[in-house]
Amino acid sequence: MYTKKVMEHFLHPHNMGEIKNADGIGKAGNFLCGDIMWLYIKVSRKDKPIIKDIKFKTLGCAAAISTSSMTTELVKGKTLKKALKITKEKVADSLGGLPPIKMHCSLLAIDALREAIYDYLSKNKIPIPEDLKKNHERVVREFKIAERKYREFIKTQEKLFE
Ligand code: FES
Repeated sequence: MYTKKVMEHFLHPHNMGEIKNADGIGKAGNFLCGDIMWLYIKVSRKDKPIIKDIKFKTLGCAAAISTSSMTTELVKGKTLKKALKITKEKVADSLGGLPPIKMHCSLLAIDALREAIYDYLSKNKIPIPEDLKKNHERVVREFKIAERKYREFIKTQEKLFE
């Protein structure tokens, strides 16, 4: 059962959409279910980078959409350093909790956020922390699997309507 807050963010997601000329773009996929997401950030001040705008697009379940929405709310206006400290548990807690079986869905937004920050750092030739590099390698691997699953799903749907 979802909390009232999860349902609010699912039915009326905050910061949904795309940022043209984003400073960092992250994409992540859940290799178990095939759900995928893109996250865009606009960053201000190079000396102390702050997320001044953030948007997301998620093709996923109610938990994935509400955690994406909450993640954007939690990190908007924060420094990149603080944004990197946000965890899936923090996001789930901010939504009043998630059913245990849905906890993995909250990782999608965290992964996409970290990927957007990774993208920003690499584009600006800013040193990337070791754990962020490792996270990036895992997310890229898992995104490929999720993307393949998504393509297979689309093909199945097309065949249904032939
Ligand atoms: Fe796929 Fe929730 S079931 S992210």
